[in-house]
Amino acid sequence: MKVAIICPMEEEIGYYKEHLGLTTSEVVGPTEIWTASYEGHDLIVARCGIGKVNAAIATTLVAQRQPDLIINTGSAGAVSPDRQIGDIIIGEATMYHDADARAFGYELGQVPTMPARYKAPENLIQGFLDAYHETELTATPGLILTGDQFIADVDKVSSLYQTFRGAQCAEMEGAAVAQVANQFGIDCIVIRAISDTAQQDANVIFDEFVVTAGQNAAKVTLSYLKHLN
Ligand code: ADE
Repeated sequence: MKVAIICPMEEEIGYYKEHLGLTTSEVVGPTEIWTASYEGHDLIVARCGIGKVNAAIATTLVAQRQPDLIINTGSAGAVSPDRQIGDIIIGEATMYHDADARAFGYELGQVPTMPARYKAPENLIQGFLDAYHETELTATPGLILTGDQFIADVDKVSSLYQTFRGAQCAEMEGAAVAQVANQFGIDCIVIRAISDTAQQDANVIFDEFVVTAGQNAAKVTLSYLKHLN
């Protein structure tokens, strides 16, 4: 299969660089794109930069190469109090927590005319559930929230948890990747690992654990690709 992996930051892409023979093929604006072969798959690996617009640019560029599947991996802040640093979240669905067109009858989080949530295909979710069992890591399927906000506030975390039932974590790119993939008709899943608990010290904790989180999300992704036909 032709599979695209999109990561926001250098720290989150490091595991792929260490384990895949990445060949730089293109730098376009904020996006850097590499290619590699892995377990019979043609991989496109892209670093998109931080935030929804950068994610959309990278996903559009990657979509033009017509992958069968797009996987967005990286770190996230915990929203559910049950999630610990290092835990993986398998994105059953992603949605924006900072979009609001309720004045026109849309759901909170829904961009007008677009789906309120971007659901990952069942076979992808199941594939990642099978794959993580082969690692030493802990994973939970659930809802991933996206917004142009680095969450570092305990009140904000509890408000997100109350408002978006079932939300496991928050990050800054996933739903934008999923939105673009949806518009190009490409299957997509977001896989994140917890780098921080999104509370007052989140910036410091993030710096300490972003590499570990990136590695964990990448490990389960490569494990998934190993068994993908
Ligand atoms: N990515 C990693 N940690 C995050 C946080 N606390 N808020 C938003 N995105 C994140």
